[in-house]
Amino acid sequence: MARAFVLNGINLGSLGERRPEVYGTQTLGDIEDLLRAGFPDVDFEFRQTDHEGEFVAWIREAADSAGLVVNPGAWTHYSYAIHDALEAVSVPKVEVHLSNVHARDEEWRRESVVSPVVDATVAGMGASGYLAAVRYVLER
Ligand code: DQA
Repeated sequence: MARAFVLNGINLGSLGERRPEVYGTQTLGDIEDLLRAGFPDVDFEFRQTDHEGEFVAWIREAADSAGLVVNPGAWTHYSYAIHDALEAVSVPKVEVHLSNVHARDEEWRRESVVSPVVDATVAGMGASGYLAAVRYVLER
């Protein structure tokens, strides 16, 4: 059974309550259910943290898995630590954002320090973005 990591970073634990007009009404638990239903043969490691060091440790742990899907939240825009951790892991990896970060008002959201070290980026597809990302990772 393929093992895949789905790592959500800072503030993503409050999905469903936080700015539903931007991030939707689904909770992280709902998204996990969607993935389990969509990929019954995948052994998922679903994790969320607000601690950057923990997130980095999990990226390292994913080094021997089938692949890695990350939504680092706001860390996306400035964390060189997460950039370096992803760069060092050679499994298929995709960056996901629920919102279309390129169409958001804040200029800093349009920059990702993570994009240069992942295979693909999905932004603006809401929860479906996670499904697309997992499919891609498994096909690689
Ligand atoms: C986000 C976009 C980030 O800019 C923001 O800080 C988040 C969520 C998204 O999924 O759209 O927390 O990663």
